Amino acid sequence: MSALDRERITSLESPLARKVEFYEEIGSTQERARELARKGAPHGTLVVSKIQVGGKGRLGRSWISPPGGLWMSLVLRPEIPARYAARITQAAAVGVAKTLRNLGVEAEIKWPNDLLVRGRKICGVLAQAIVGDNKQGYFIILGIGLNANFMPSDLELTDREAATLSSELGREVDLLELLDALLRNLDAELGRLDDFDEILADWRSMTCTLGRHVRVRRFGQVLEGEAADLNPDGALILKTQSGVFELFEGEIE
Ligand code: BTN
Repeated sequence: MSALDRERITSLESPLARKVEFYEEIGSTQERARELARKGAPHGTLVVSKIQVGGKGRLGRSWISPPGGLWMSLVLRPEIPARYAARITQAAAVGVAKTLRNLGVEAEIKWPNDLLVRGRKICGVLAQAIVGDNKQGYFIILGIGLNANFMPSDLELTDREAATLSSELGREVDLLELLDALLRNLDAELGRLDDFDEILADWRSMTCTLGRHVRVRRFGQVLEGEAADLNPDGALILKTQSGVFELFEGEIE
């Protein structure tokens, strides 16, 4: 088993780990990566920490990040125009899902980009686009929180159940190998953003959301209907009694 450290991560020679910061403990890798990006950090700057004490989830939630997880944030400066930045969300979810499936964990993607195993969340993806706050164009901070070498009970969640790689595989995984595989898959997906149809086809083949009757909360509003498909831009097409909605953000039940 190789523990994670800066030298080992750098030795992976991934284009997504051109510049690496590694912490024993940090508030949030997401905030650190954003800080670095604002100071001009290049595409492929990677921040990893063994523990996060102020991990951030979607919709302002906190993200519990004990030792044994893979907690990382990437600075991305994609070559595609900013109006297509939302593509990164599906591309990243597909990259993570492929990584988990290659390990033998049948992960499914829950819209917009949660990774579930048997209905339990194993990984969260947070893609935050920041546009026009400097002359270098827009950038994206892609945060990935993957429950790996600990048990779901370590998260002490009371409101929902989670999964971890340990609980699914009955063993610990090598975090360096896991990160290597993840960076390869992410790089492959991010490298084909121009072929977004293909990313969407993979997304559709691995989702547990489409074809289901769902309730979506967004901006304090609740919409209920059938999750019919993704549109060519990656928005969820929700067919409700009051019409068809195309959603980029929200929380599904
Ligand atoms: C979600 O709510 O599903 C997204 C969770 C994203 C968590 C990751 S862990 C690494 C990075 N740092 C953070 O503070 N958040 C993201």
